[in-house]
Amino acid sequence: MVNQTGKATLTFGDKELELPIYTPTAGPDVIDITKLYAQGGVFTYDPGFTSTASCDSTITFIDGEKGELLHRGYPIDQLAEKSHFLEVCYLLLYGHLPTAAEIDDFEYRVTRHTMVHEQMTKFYSGFRRDAHPMAIMVGVVGAMSAFYHDSTDIADPWQREVASIRMIAKMPTIAAMAYKYTIGQPFVYPRNDLDYASNFLNMCFSVPAEEYMPNPILSRAMDRIFTLHADHEQNASTSTVRLAGSSGANPFACVAAGIACLWGPAHGGANQACLEMLKEIGSVDRIPEFIARAKDKDDPFRLMGFGHRVYKNFDPRAKVMKQSADEVLDLLGIEDNPTLQVAKELEKQALEDPYFTEKKLFPNVDFYSGIILEAMGFPTAMFTPIFALSRTVGWISQWKEMLTDPGQKIGRPRQLYTGDTLRDYVDVEKR
Ligand code: CMC
Repeated sequence: MVNQTGKATLTFGDKELELPIYTPTAGPDVIDITKLYAQGGVFTYDPGFTSTASCDSTITFIDGEKGELLHRGYPIDQLAEKSHFLEVCYLLLYGHLPTAAEIDDFEYRVTRHTMVHEQMTKFYSGFRRDAHPMAIMVGVVGAMSAFYHDSTDIADPWQREVASIRMIAKMPTIAAMAYKYTIGQPFVYPRNDLDYASNFLNMCFSVPAEEYMPNPILSRAMDRIFTLHADHEQNASTSTVRLAGSSGANPFACVAAGIACLWGPAHGGANQACLEMLKEIGSVDRIPEFIARAKDKDDPFRLMGFGHRVYKNFDPRAKVMKQSADEVLDLLGIEDNPTLQVAKELEKQALEDPYFTEKKLFPNVDFYSGIILEAMGFPTAMFTPIFALSRTVGWISQWKEMLTDPGQKIGRPRQLYTGDTLRDYVDVEKR
């Protein structure tokens, strides 16, 4: 529970209201306006939530000016370098770094849930082969509520826990099956002797006809991509999951809503859009043309993988991702990759341009991730599903936190109505 550390006075008309101020452990103070309508008869107006905290949370903190991202206090670059994805999942879910026994137990629990109900394979065959894997994921994850009835009672802490583990465990299987379906290959069952990232690579790239052993360096790069996407406080998809969950909807339905929101190109869909843009640019000599388009107010084109609502200096995830891109391409012997060359030169030219520096637009996490994923063999359509499977733990951690908040209410924003006022219905012959 947050403590009041001050008060703000709001004066309007003949009213003067005192509003409590809370000081967080990090970040700017917040003014509590929850009683504003009851006491003052007015709403606040903040489309896009640019100045509104929708909840209090102990999970993730971002300092956009410093380019800092902390999970439970630990900086993302340290986690990306020293930890691994399942340990970060544990940290996000339970609030502390696990002991050796705790992580063993957690990995055992996740690994025991990697298979999906066999009947779920039937869902896939209902989709067209050229369906986008995100479309398949929205449907199949939503359908989990029809298969795992014993973990949909949100009032039962044990069921919430089982649903969380199930989602973290099954999401790679569901994403890999979506990929296999679209390329017409047989589904590959999970292998519980492999680590989380290697198992995902195996389900995506192995075929029954041949031996496949994931390259440990690629598995590490995959694991790092999962880690870098694990949570990002109250972003659009996480807020969607919280809002869906605030009505009491089951966790599978809430995460399906999060996946739908993530798909958009302003959010998780930017990784696919960014690689497509880099390929469209094609060569470094065409960069000025695309920079000019991004600056043109009459052209809807934006530099994909650039800009962020919160980061106004740099995105710490992008730094790690850029370094990873170099390492992976080097390992795979891909020298002079034209897409990487275009990306590096585009970044350089944009960061020398006052349009981008004055608006504080820097490369974000999506700028380099596509280059790594493509080098690993993933088609662009799989980039956002990989983001979705990585973010699942963040969605679930935030959803669980919300449900255990004693003050939790259904989310129900108000509006500034600008439509017609009361008028009488007109019969069709008189219109
Ligand atoms: N290229 C060109 N101009 C841009 C860009 C860009 N990528 N991003 C923002 N701007 C301009 C924008 O036109 C506006 O200019 P003005 O003030 O003159 O009207 C100004 O910068 C502020 O932009 P905004 O749209 O008001 O900022 P926002 O905080 O609402 O949007 C954003 C943030 C990430 C949606 C936006 O920067 C964007 O569309 N970026 C491209 C898509 C992208 O890479 N998204 C991934 C975000 S990180 C991963 C994730 O969260 O999923």
